[in-house]
Amino acid sequence: MNLSIRKAIDNDIEAIVFLNSQLADYHRKIDDYYKTGKQVSKAFKNYLQQIIISNNHLILIAQNDNLAIGYFIGEISPAKPFLTPEKTGRISDAFVVEKYRGRGLGEKLFDKMLQWFDKHNVAYIELSVDVRNQVGIRAWQKYGFEAFMLKMKRKL
Ligand SMILES: CC(C)(COP(=O)(O)OP(=O)(O)OC[C@H]1O[C@@H](n2cnc3c(N)ncnc32)[C@H](O)[C@@H]1OP(=O)(O)O)[C@@H](O)C(=O)NCCC(=O)NCCS
Repeated sequence: MNLSIRKAIDNDIEAIVFLNSQLADYHRKIDDYYKTGKQVSKAFKNYLQQIIISNNHLILIAQNDNLAIGYFIGEISPAKPFLTPEKTGRISDAFVVEKYRGRGLGEKLFDKMLQWFDKHNVAYIELSVDVRNQVGIRAWQKYGFEAFMLKMKRKL
């Protein structure tokens, strides 16, 4: 493996949209409440074009040679008024292509993300993970996260 992890640039957008569509399809397999990759890609591309120039976001891309094999997105925003910290870090997206999983790449992406949050004096990071996504839950627990809130839905 000739692995590199770096901040994404404009030229990476197409590759990240493709990775995100795989992440969307991964969730779609869990529940058809989620849109498919195809359904989300246009809006996600617009979103990436906005956040790639924002100082409150960091998009990390992992490549093996020139092939994009993973990405993480982090975001810093003012904390909710009922929380004690001033700002909250959030990991909104995390994805590694299936055949590269379980080899520590997610952890490397996470560590780099952590350095960025730390540099910006973020004391706490939050994220949401589907309760049926055992791979995701195990990874987040390994990186030190613990559940503190349960998100619920019901159909009308
Ligand atoms: C979560 C994810 C980004 C982690 O990336 P990664 O490169 O696999 O991360 P690591 O190699 O650091 O592994 C972290 C843990 O993930 C879990 N994991 C990774 N691959 C797995 C697999 N194929 N089967 C089961 N668990 C797996 C393991 O608990 C692993 O820890 P371990 O190696 O000590 O057992 C990646 O697994 C992924 O893209 N998963 C599918 C999408 C997803 O769940 N995203 C997060 C949504 S909130």
